[in-house]
Amino acid sequence: MNPARIAASILSADFARLGEEVRHVIGSGADIVHFDVMDNHYVPNLTFGPMVCAALRPHTTAPIDVHLMVKPVDRLIPDFAKAGANIISFHPEASEHVDRTLALIRECGCKAGLVLNPATPLNVLDHVMDRLDLILLMSVNPGFGGQSFIPHTLHKLRTVKQRIRESGRDIWLEVDGGVKADNIGAIAAAGADTFVAGSAIFGAPDYADVIRRMKTEVAQHTGGTA
Ligand code: DX5
Ligand code: ZN
Repeated sequence: MNPARIAASILSADFARLGEEVRHVIGSGADIVHFDVMDNHYVPNLTFGPMVCAALRPHTTAPIDVHLMVKPVDRLIPDFAKAGANIISFHPEASEHVDRTLALIRECGCKAGLVLNPATPLNVLDHVMDRLDLILLMSVNPGFGGQSFIPHTLHKLRTVKQRIRESGRDIWLEVDGGVKADNIGAIAAAGADTFVAGSAIFGAPDYADVIRRMKTEVAQHTGGTA
């Protein structure tokens, strides 16, 4: 059975009340705070950086999962580690030296993740499985919340899940983009164990109700209980 970790993307939260939103969503059953960092260079949008991460850190003990959509990458890693990040992931296309960047994240005391865009081939995983704590598959093109889930991600998820099994390592498999209560079951069945959801949670009137429905769907599709 999959553990069904829900990572709430605060990209869709009310930015004027971010601390309160983080407390509310974690209190409503989310397991992780997903923190989308965009630089208007690697992706065509601009969000927040380490100072905002540090400001949110006292508001929760839940892990903060920093998704870097920035180029270059390395400069920001120590800053996010100091700001209280627990997980840092980045896109291989944005780093000149992927192996070095992965090592740097762990040296800074964080879990390290690689993010694969919808068109990024899986061979970027070939020589780095021992450096990874997490693989994040994008199910939309990065840059914006509220997009639709790209269906071929399900096939990619199954293939990556198989590669993780073969590696014998405890690597989380996270999916990001267009995750809703009505498709999370199929996503879980394809092998994901960590689910980023932004608009599906923050766009709903009752966060706890959506998160509960998501966890029930995952349990039903993976043979467990919510
Ligand atoms: C997109 C971000 C996602 C986004 C997900 O670039 O990485 O984390 O916030 O938003 P939803 O769940 O609305 O697709
Ligand atoms: Zn993200």
